[in-house]
Amino acid sequence: MSRRIEIFDTTLRDGEQTPGISLNVKEKLEVARQLEKLSVDVIEAGFPIASKGDFNAVKTIAENVRGPVIAGLARANFKDIDCAAEALKAAARPRIHTFIASSPIHMKYKLKMTEEEVLEAAVAAVKRAKSYVEDVEFSAEDASRSDVEFLCRLYEAAIKAGATVINVPDTVGYTTPREFGKLIRALMERVPGIENVKLSVHCHNDLGMAVANSLEAVACGATQIECAVNGLGERAGNAALEEVVMALDTRKDFFGFTHNINTKQIYRTSKLVSTLTGVAIQPNKAIVGANAFAHESGIHQHGVLAEKSTYEIMTPESVGLTTNRLVLGKHSGRHAFAQRLKELGYELAQDELNKAFERFKDLADKKKEITDMDIEAIVEDQVLKWPEHIELEYFQVSTGNQSIATATVKVKIDEEVVEEASTGDGPIDAAYKALERACNINCKLVDYSIRSVSSGKDALGEVTVKVEKDGRTFLGRGLSTDIIEASVIAYTNALNKTMFSNGNGKAREVI
Ligand code: KIV
Ligand code: ZN
Repeated sequence: MSRRIEIFDTTLRDGEQTPGISLNVKEKLEVARQLEKLSVDVIEAGFPIASKGDFNAVKTIAENVRGPVIAGLARANFKDIDCAAEALKAAARPRIHTFIASSPIHMKYKLKMTEEEVLEAAVAAVKRAKSYVEDVEFSAEDASRSDVEFLCRLYEAAIKAGATVINVPDTVGYTTPREFGKLIRALMERVPGIENVKLSVHCHNDLGMAVANSLEAVACGATQIECAVNGLGERAGNAALEEVVMALDTRKDFFGFTHNINTKQIYRTSKLVSTLTGVAIQPNKAIVGANAFAHESGIHQHGVLAEKSTYEIMTPESVGLTTNRLVLGKHSGRHAFAQRLKELGYELAQDELNKAFERFKDLADKKKEITDMDIEAIVEDQVLKWPEHIELEYFQVSTGNQSIATATVKVKIDEEVVEEASTGDGPIDAAYKALERACNINCKLVDYSIRSVSSGKDALGEVTVKVEKDGRTFLGRGLSTDIIEASVIAYTNALNKTMFSNGNGKAREVI
């Protein structure tokens, strides 16, 4: 029988450590729910001791997401482990993931501990975690740069102490497929008891080999791959979930493994994570990039038209990309809209459906053809909406290449209506200054990006802004066929979050 490879998703933990990303609890829960639909085996929901936001996110996900195993990260000390256990208390299938560094360079300069001290701390940590939960994962951080002899002793001790999963991280993305495969084989041969536990790998992408290293590891005996959606993660990121899964899937003739992932949810998951994190996907990104299934050259187009498999090794449908792009228009009714939503996999409560339908009708007045991409953008915007304490009543801008841009905005902050005006370096700058004045918020715009959701002059524009306030980053998003309106909505959305967020920001302890 073919071996099943477990997919451990760390988008919400390692992925959330991507510079500039900060998701709040509601957004993390939304991602976790989507990961459940994707059918990952494990969701690493966060690092509970790192911040209140992380703790609350792990707790909320543990309370609400019942399918996959929910893991919480903890360093090898009692305080971290007790905190992770508390956050995971309500989980149907909790796992505590504890780690300590094992490489000479980390032990000497970071931990200032000897091998024996590290070994002792690891055993104590696993035992402590085991006193709370049955499922305990132990990671030897920087395993790929560790002494193999010591690594074998460390893993053997962790297994004896009760670890159910042994993880081998390539923390700095240093290893190569052949070298990593050799390490996995050595561990399989030399660590007593390893045959009774799950053997996991966690590869970083500093040299662009995270996916290749993970795949070679499973070919050599590993049974779990740790990865993140869109390859998010520290520095160059982690192994990309969608690449690992589609490699296993498309080349099952070669690998001979199975997996549990519902690949049709890949595109949706990638899109959601990109929208919420504000990290755009490069067009040529494997599997989920805009060009991943586009054939530009005449020779390729000719081949694909004659027989898809000439240049297509997997179908767009297999990752959930719909080919039915032209769907609804001005005359489509509520029933057709609800039906299309259902076909796209959205299940909305009645009031959400009503609001989404209203927005669809507004859009249909401005735009001739509504595509699946427009519908997805509307629904995501709708579902992920924050309670709006600041409501934009109206804005007006005046600009030109011979005049100073001016903007007037009127907002309702809870019940108070405020109107302000400002000049600026262009209409968007003027509107943003007027908004800051009206809301009495001082913050810094650190990123602004705009993309069109679909094609054509009347396409929906999606603006994403990142603002910084008191050392925390907040993301705002706006959607409109008018790009200035989309920009103003995005900034209002971000200001809302700075005022009322329960987000976790980046106030983390440094490991
Ligand atoms: O990269 C790493 O070593 C980690 C561990 C905590 C598993 O993220
Ligand atoms: Zn990592």
